[in-house]
Amino acid sequence: MAPRVRACTLCHGKEGRATPEGYFPRIAGKPAGYLANQLFNFRDGRRNYAPMSHLLETLSDAYLHEIAAYFAALDLPYPPPPAPQAAPAQIALGQRLVQHGDAARRLPACVQCHGSAMTGVAPAIPGLLGLPRDYLNSQLGAWQTGQRHAQAPDCMAEVARKLSADEVSAISAWLAAQPVPAHGKPAAQLPAPLPLRCGGVALPAADQRGRT
Ligand code: HEC
Ligand code: HEC
Repeated sequence: MAPRVRACTLCHGKEGRATPEGYFPRIAGKPAGYLANQLFNFRDGRRNYAPMSHLLETLSDAYLHEIAAYFAALDLPYPPPPAPQAAPAQIALGQRLVQHGDAARRLPACVQCHGSAMTGVAPAIPGLLGLPRDYLNSQLGAWQTGQRHAQAPDCMAEVARKLSADEVSAISAWLAAQPVPAHGKPAAQLPAPLPLRCGGVALPAADQRGRT
């Protein structure tokens, strides 16, 4: 598989492990179901990045699952995070929203879905650590403006639309400055049912209870 995915690693870094600088996201070691869903999303127009959509347009579901499994199985260390790039009050706001949400606005905590260690939950929820700040800002913004979609029901669109621009930048600044624990492996299961229903996340019915 390594030679076949050389086109991918040109942008995503050697073996798919981008550095914390720059915009290209790391793909190595992310949950396989999440990676496969993203490849479908780019191919089928729910996410937009022309050079990638173009590469994927003729590839079958089965082949995209193979590519996803290849990158998911890579177990490579993460570089240390960059120093926080925001004022301490902003960083504190970001941390509070990620860990506790805001019950008054029915904003769930990010950790309720992304795992208490924020390393994601297998098979389809990605981690929030080891991603560049610019990439985080841009993805949350893309959900707010409808540029990025997940499979319906799109719980991330619901979450992102509750956040102000200032909150998005606080969250991204805090997350991007956190170290990734022990290779950042996704958790095997959720500690509790998801607070909202999320498409593309195959979980036992009891874990998809949700409010909506
Ligand atoms: C021309 C550069 C480029 C090439 C080539 C490329 N990618 Fe990407 N990829 C990107 C960028 C930029 C993004 C983020 C796009 C966005 O803003 O949503 C991305 C996003 C992704 C994501 C989503 C990551 C996440 O955390 O959500 C996956 C998975 C991915 N690429 C896999 C691949 C695979 C597999 C290939 C090879 C078949 C590939 N890419 C080729 C630049 C590239
Ligand atoms: C109800 C569950 C849920 C909550 C709460 C939630 N997320 Fe997500 N998030 C998901 C799912 C599911 C995905 C994968 C979506 C997809 O397949 O594209 C995701 C994807 C993401 C991504 C894309 C990662 C990448 O590599 O491109 C980011 C960034 C993100 N979430 C940030 C957050 C932040 C920040 C919060 C808290 C403010 C949050 N999420 C709260 C379920 C959730």
